[in-house]
Amino acid sequence: MCGIVAYVGKRKASNILIKGLKRLEYRGYDSAGIALINNDINVYKCQGRVSDLESILTEEDIHGFVGMGHTRWATHGEPTDINAHPHESMNGDFIIIHNGIIENYSKLKIGLENEGYSFKSETDTEVLANLIEYVFLSHINDDIPFSAEEAVRQALLMVEGAYGLVVIAKSEKDKLIAARKGSPLVIGIGKEEYFIASDATPIIEYTNSVIYLNDGDIAIITKNSLNLTNLKNVSQKPDIKTIDLKLDEIEKGGFEHYMLKEIYEQPKAIKDTCRGRLSFEAKALKLGGLHDVFEELKSAKRILIIACGTSWHAGLVGEYLLEEFTRIPTEVEYASEFRYRNPVINKGDIVIAISQSGETADTLAAIQLAKSAGALVLGVCNVVGSSIPRETVAGVYTHAGPEIGVASTKAFTAQVTVLTMMAMAIGYANKGLTKKEYEDLIDELYLIPEKIEKILEKADFVEKIADLIKDANNALYLGRGYLFPVALEGALKLKEISYIHAEGYPAAEMKHGPIALIDDKMPVIVLATKDHSYDKIVSNIQEVKARKGLIIAVVTEGDTTIKNMADYVIEVPHSDFALAPLLTVIPLQLLSYYTAVKRGCNVDQPRNLAKSVTVE
Ligand code: G6P
Repeated sequence: MCGIVAYVGKRKASNILIKGLKRLEYRGYDSAGIALINNDINVYKCQGRVSDLESILTEEDIHGFVGMGHTRWATHGEPTDINAHPHESMNGDFIIIHNGIIENYSKLKIGLENEGYSFKSETDTEVLANLIEYVFLSHINDDIPFSAEEAVRQALLMVEGAYGLVVIAKSEKDKLIAARKGSPLVIGIGKEEYFIASDATPIIEYTNSVIYLNDGDIAIITKNSLNLTNLKNVSQKPDIKTIDLKLDEIEKGGFEHYMLKEIYEQPKAIKDTCRGRLSFEAKALKLGGLHDVFEELKSAKRILIIACGTSWHAGLVGEYLLEEFTRIPTEVEYASEFRYRNPVINKGDIVIAISQSGETADTLAAIQLAKSAGALVLGVCNVVGSSIPRETVAGVYTHAGPEIGVASTKAFTAQVTVLTMMAMAIGYANKGLTKKEYEDLIDELYLIPEKIEKILEKADFVEKIADLIKDANNALYLGRGYLFPVALEGALKLKEISYIHAEGYPAAEMKHGPIALIDDKMPVIVLATKDHSYDKIVSNIQEVKARKGLIIAVVTEGDTTIKNMADYVIEVPHSDFALAPLLTVIPLQLLSYYTAVKRGCNVDQPRNLAKSVTVE
C-alpha cells in the first residue's frame, strides 16, 4: 500500500518519478505527489491519480536531478491535497514520503505540540517529518556536527510501527535517506545514479542491479555513493541482486486492462510455474525449493496454511488437495486472525504462507509468530525477492510474472498449481497417492494450460452473460468440495471490481440462509462440473430454479442435464476433479471483468482497494 519512488543522478528526476508512480499506482491511488530538488525543494501534490498530478505540473516546475514521489492509499486522514505526500516538516528542513503506519503517532504528536510544533495534515507521516526536524534542531548547536541521517536514525528509534520511507533534508539536498521496517524498499543501482522504489517496476527500465533493504536498514545515497547502515549505525554489507523482469511484462500489451491481460496470461503462467518441475515425459515432479525440507514435509503431523484474500482461497483449495493426496491434517487460517488469536502451534507443524506480493503485513506477522513458536515456515510467493520469501526457510515461487491488476487472477491459478504439485509430491512420497494416481495427475496437470485456452475462446459468450448480471444488486456463488473455494473466489472477484454484493457459499449451506434471498432478480452462479457430488449440486440447482433464481452454471463439456435446467451454461473441458478449480475459476474471472466494464468501473484500480496490503 502506497507507492514510493525516488531518484538521484544525472537524469531529469520528474520524468522518472511520474513514470515510476504510474507503475506503482496499483499500490494506492487516492492521491499523489512529488518533491523535486532544484535550488529549492518544490512540492507538488493533489488528491486523485498520478495523471491528475501530472496535469498540475508545468514545464517550469520540472527541473532537478533529485526528487521523490508517492502514490497514496489513505490510512490516517482522508484523501485530500493536504494529506497527500510528500510532507514537509514545520520549518521546512525535512521532507518525507512514507509507506506504513506510525502506530505511536498521537503520542509523538502531543509531545511535538508541547514543543511548539503545529500540523497541517491529519497524517502520521507529518508527525514523523516534524519529529526528525525536532531531533535535528535539538542538536544544531552541538560541537560535533549532527547530520540529517543521524536525525532520521534517532527519530526512527522513537517510532513504533511500520515504514518504508525516503527523506530529503534541506541542508543536504543531493542526498536521499531511505529506511525500511515492515514496508518494502528496493534500491536500483545505475551508473552515477540510484533509484529507490517500493518494488522493482519503476527501476527495471534503467537497471537490473538492485538491493532489497532489510528491516532496520538505513541507506544514505548520493549520485555517486551508497552507504548502508542499520538503526544502530552499524555498517551493513549490500547484497546486490540481478533481477530478471522485462519491461513488456509490466505493460498492457494491447489489452484494454491489466486484468484482462492477466486472465489471458494464465496458460503461460501455469506452464511457467510447472517448467523445470513437472515432466510429462518422465512422469516426474520435482520441487527444488522444498528439497531441503522434504523429509519434514513428508512426515508432518499437521500443515497450517496462512494467507489473505485471494491467496487464502488458493490456500483453501490447498487444504482439500493436501488432505486428499497426503492425508496430513491441514488447516487454513486468515493470517490476520491467526496472528492475534493465540493459535496452537506445535513444534513439528509446517506452516505454508501464501502471498502474491510477498509483502502482506498480516501474513508477514503470522510468519513471525509461527517461527517464534518453532514451526517450519515455507512460502508460496510470486514476487521474487519480496519479504516473505526472505522470511521463510524454503518455498516454491509461482512464476506467474508481475500481476498489476488489483483483482488477482493469474496469481491464484499459479498458487493453486504450486499447491497441487506440493500435494502430489508429498502424497506420492508418503503413499497417500499410488503411482498410477500420481502419474494420472501429472498427465492431467500438464493438459491444464491447453484447457484454459479453450475456455478463453468462449470469452464472448461470457461477456453476453455479463449483460444479465450487470444491473443486479446481489449475486450468489455456489460450489461443493474443490469448487467451494472457487465460489468464494468468484464472489470476491465480482464484488471487488464491479461493487455488486456477492457471496460464495458451499452449495448445501444455501438452505441455511441464502435461499431466503433468492428471487427472479438474483443471479446464482453454480459450479457444477462432474464429480462425486454432481447429483447433489443438480438438486441444489433445482432448489434455486423452484425459487425463480437466474441460474448460470459452469459445467463439464457435454453436460445436458444441467443445460436443461439452467438459464445459461458455460462449459469447461473435463479434468480430474481435484484440478477443476484451475478451469472453473476462469469463466468467473471473465464474468466479473466484463460485468465491471459494463458498469463503467475502474477494473484495474477498484475503489478503496490496493494490491499490496502492507498495513494490517
Ligand atoms: C489484497 C489484494 C488481493 C490479494 C490480497 C492478499 O487484498 O487486492 O488481490 O489476494 O491482498 O495479497 P497477497 O499479496 O498476500 O497475495
